[in-house]
Amino acid sequence: MTMNSISTHPFDDQKPGTSGLRKKVKIFQQKHYLENFVQSVFDSLDECSGARLIVGGDGRYFNRDAIQVIVRMAVANGFGELVIGSGGILSTPAASCIIRKYQACGGLILSASHNPGGPDEDFGIKFNGANGGPATETHTNQIFQLTQSISRYHIADTDTVDLDRIQEFYLEETLIRIIDPVADYVDMMSSIFDFSAIKKLFKSGFSMRFDAMHAVTGPYAKALFIDQLSAPPESVMNAEPLEDFGGHHPDPNLVHAATLVDAVNAGAIDFGAASDGDGDRNMIIGHNCYVNPCDSLAVLAANATLVPGYRVGLAGVARSMPTSRAVDRVADQLEIPCYETPTGWKFFGNLMDDDRITLCGEESFGTGSSHVREKDGLWAVLFWLNLLAVSNKSVSELLNQHWQTYGRDLFTRHDYEGIDTRDANEMMQALNDSLPELSGQTFDDFIVEQADQFSYADPVDGTLSDNQGIRITFTNGARIVVRLSGTGTSGATLRVYLDQFSQSLSQTDTQILLAPLAKVAQSIIGIKRFSGRTSPDVIT
Ligand code: G1P
Ligand code: ZN
Repeated sequence: MTMNSISTHPFDDQKPGTSGLRKKVKIFQQKHYLENFVQSVFDSLDECSGARLIVGGDGRYFNRDAIQVIVRMAVANGFGELVIGSGGILSTPAASCIIRKYQACGGLILSASHNPGGPDEDFGIKFNGANGGPATETHTNQIFQLTQSISRYHIADTDTVDLDRIQEFYLEETLIRIIDPVADYVDMMSSIFDFSAIKKLFKSGFSMRFDAMHAVTGPYAKALFIDQLSAPPESVMNAEPLEDFGGHHPDPNLVHAATLVDAVNAGAIDFGAASDGDGDRNMIIGHNCYVNPCDSLAVLAANATLVPGYRVGLAGVARSMPTSRAVDRVADQLEIPCYETPTGWKFFGNLMDDDRITLCGEESFGTGSSHVREKDGLWAVLFWLNLLAVSNKSVSELLNQHWQTYGRDLFTRHDYEGIDTRDANEMMQALNDSLPELSGQTFDDFIVEQADQFSYADPVDGTLSDNQGIRITFTNGARIVVRLSGTGTSGATLRVYLDQFSQSLSQTDTQILLAPLAKVAQSIIGIKRFSGRTSPDVIT
């Protein structure tokens, strides 16, 4: 087998965003593009020689091609072992689970999460370290630096590897293991949750629909819900992973999972859930009852000891800054610490490795725990099923009971997509410049209490992360958070997060309740002035 060192030149756009490097497929298909990034990851590791690496992705277009390249490069870089999910499949949480269980030096996860897939859509790649979590900010910056000076990469001349057969074989010194992508993950879930209680729940006629959105969770959901928990086959919809996700956005929210929402609201289904492209996000719904992800985290934290894996209680909790403060109220009552981190899962890893937190989450349909170092969609669904099974309550009963105890944090996020990048940057700069004068100003019925740029000092290693989003709080407990998305692949997306504490259990639509705050946000940010937009494109 020939090992080649290919000379190359840097691409200037390989800076990873909130969650790895995401670009249009066509960009990744450019000569040397993927190879440069992979070699930079390998060069950032202390030692590849003899190390074990996990590889898998969400099955989207270009997944298989990318894995063939990674195999050839890993062989030439002297890795000892490559563990690959068969079919090139590994959900993000399953990859995290397998990195930890097999004590790998890390893993390459191929996904652009909830972004659409296909030849003209998105692809992505990210490196997770030995703890199973996304590379830290420092490591990510180091990888980026290496992409800026790269001049060669190593690649072996091998035949295409058959990814579909479970098998083990050597390529030169590297052991290639194609494994069942589902089994280790299912084992882990059965060690956390009360499967017999959930089984009984299904036996009693309780009905659920899980929408895999033609993305990676289909095989996992079938193994868990149908094979292990004896739910009827129709409990899992869109279970076959497709390279283009059937032409849809594999994003579990009220807009993109509307078919599921309609089916659950039509009446005969007690519980609905969905996950995204790579299986780390979740949406939970009951009959005419949508559980906002911020509330979901709070409900799970408040009831965690009902689940076998969390019977001993929680070390602490964490949420990303834009996530509502619902979980803070639970932490207060449980007298456990609650950390506020920047957006993105990579900030939770240190807190978990240091045993400071057990549960964490983000408003963007991400919930997770220290069982892995990624958010975990199916884990959240099983958590809810476990709570429903042992409490004998419906989704809306659990949620209402929570609000009665803790009060309610109304929350919504308004996204303005595809804004011209220059306009968006000017808008953020102007808002940033106005922060010192905002405090004390009145907008309609809202008086600004404080306005600042969020920065985070990691309490474990002291790393400082600046400019993580603008926070404006008001004297009546309302809050506006403003930031630009770090995961998009074209133009800029403005995210405006609105939340307000309320003791009322009013059934009025959250959008109506938060409309006065939304109006204030529009005027403070100057959305129309800078972007010409008068209303958001996506509301979650
Ligand atoms: C978005 C979400 C963020 C999440 C990330 C990866 O990032 O807002 O919470 O961690 O996707 O799933 P953003 O596009 O806002 O940078
Ligand atoms: Zn995802």
